[in-house]
Amino acid sequence: LKNWQGHDFLDFADHSALDLQDLLALAIDLKDKHQKGTPFRPLAGKTLGMIFEKASTRTRVSFEVAMFQLGGHALFLSGSDTQIGRGEPIPDTARVLSRYVDGLMIRTFGHANVIELARYATVPVINGLTDLHHPCQVLADILTLWEKKGTLKGLTVTYIGDGNNMANSWLVAAPKFGLNLHIATPAGYECDPAVVEQAQGYAKLHGTEIVLTHDPVVAVTNTDMIYTDVWASMGQESEQQERLDKFTAYQVNAELVKHAKPDYLFMHCLPAHRGEEVTSDVIDGPNSVVFDEAENRLHVQKAILVATMA
Ligand code: CP
Ligand code: NVA
Repeated sequence: LKNWQGHDFLDFADHSALDLQDLLALAIDLKDKHQKGTPFRPLAGKTLGMIFEKASTRTRVSFEVAMFQLGGHALFLSGSDTQIGRGEPIPDTARVLSRYVDGLMIRTFGHANVIELARYATVPVINGLTDLHHPCQVLADILTLWEKKGTLKGLTVTYIGDGNNMANSWLVAAPKFGLNLHIATPAGYECDPAVVEQAQGYAKLHGTEIVLTHDPVVAVTNTDMIYTDVWASMGQESEQQERLDKFTAYQVNAELVKHAKPDYLFMHCLPAHRGEEVTSDVIDGPNSVVFDEAENRLHVQKAILVATMA
């Protein structure tokens, strides 16, 4: 994929709809190879440095396994055990690590940190989650949606809950894949206004619909997919109680999902808090595809690694 070689994967906004569709097609191909047991090791001899300043289960394990399966190697670098945690500047970290590794993945707080890392690194940088975006997750979600529905164009995705990194990444991704997007958040917890503006431009360009509301029933009505995420993200632990009170009407439960299409899918990036943003009967019920979704992190990330680093 010529347009991906040596490039970063930080935000859907940086890539055209066609390039993103190519990346999804590569993920489908790599998943097929994986399922057939066909060895494919285009990253032999290459190393991915993975910087984590927040906790992770899926992102860490799927990237590390992906590098191994592609013939390469992954290094887990915890922020607190490297000089990053003692304040070594990002531009220095970027230039030093670029002398050792062939690609970098970073999970951190401020999105500006990732942009700065990418600016100074001479190897591709992949966003493994910031406070603003989580593009690897949304790419896995879109692969899952395509597998389950056989198409993307014209489907409606509904996001219920906090206007956080997941919701922001959905905003910029949905129009580029031909998806309509409904988002219901409590007042005061809307998506990032600059991301909303970007997304509205893409929606106009690609002829898709974006509905932003405070009414979860309006957002869910006739939808093909319901998505939710935790009410307090990593870094917001001190707001947990306040958010519990303000988000109760946004729980995805048996009553709310009645308004969706009967064959709606339920997705969640995980980890989930059963009894808060989603009830057990929904996340463990027949419409839920959360574990296929989690598996797809591996396949889409292999595509990102191959496209940018091979
Ligand atoms: N969904 C996701 O990114 O999970 P982790 O925090 O476990 O990596
Ligand atoms: N919004 C969540 C996503 C975790 C994968 C967080 O940032 O903690």
